[in-house]
Amino acid sequence: VDWKHVDASEMRNCMGRFLTGVAVLTTADGTELHGMTVNSLTSVSLDPPLLLVCLMEDARTTSVVTATRRFNLSILGSENEEVCRRFAERGADHYRDLEYERDPEGIPLLAGAVVQLRCVLEDTHTHGDHVILVAGVEYARLPVPDPKPLAFFCGRFYELQPRAEEAPELEPVPQIFPPTESVEWAWNAPALSW
Ligand SMILES: Cc1cc2nc3c(=O)[nH]c(=O)nc-3n(C[C@H](O)[C@H](O)[C@H](O)COP(=O)(O)O)c2cc1C
Repeated sequence: VDWKHVDASEMRNCMGRFLTGVAVLTTADGTELHGMTVNSLTSVSLDPPLLLVCLMEDARTTSVVTATRRFNLSILGSENEEVCRRFAERGADHYRDLEYERDPEGIPLLAGAVVQLRCVLEDTHTHGDHVILVAGVEYARLPVPDPKPLAFFCGRFYELQPRAEEAPELEPVPQIFPPTESVEWAWNAPALSW
């Protein structure tokens, strides 16, 4: 098989073969709500808890986040495919008839997420047509004890199954959030209270 030159569409094809989860980044500009589907989400640091996400420089959501410095991430569950598609549609009214709640600062969090994170923007780096947002993770909530993620691969959505039920589980990864002040928020999910 020959090597191909990598342009924008080939870059998308190539990186599409890297299986990811999907999240919706939400933010608010006063009473106006914004958000977009992202799969460029990556953990950066455990202590302090930092993550990064890459956003198209010219997206509406990007300008709101860089101005307000606050956003939330709802990492989507297997039931959230429709939500994922609607937040990937440019210019659409993403929140119409959608089930969501707001954190104490009024920033949306989506129902059905396997994890919800409240983030504060620390730094931005513009490269090419995207901006890398580096953010501190302030609070986390894990609304479901047995998460079933939504997976994205080669432009299609998947539900994941463990390869073999009897396979031993891996050692748990170190807990990313110190079980201090975030604990109540992290485990108080059924009542959905702040
Ligand atoms: C699975 C999936 C993952 C995506 N990941 C990203 C991403 O990480 N960064 C990004 O800028 N756009 C990403 N997009 C495209 C945006 O979701 C889309 O362009 C968005 O609706 C633009 O938001 P706007 O309405 O604020 O302009 C992704 C789309 C899909 C379907």
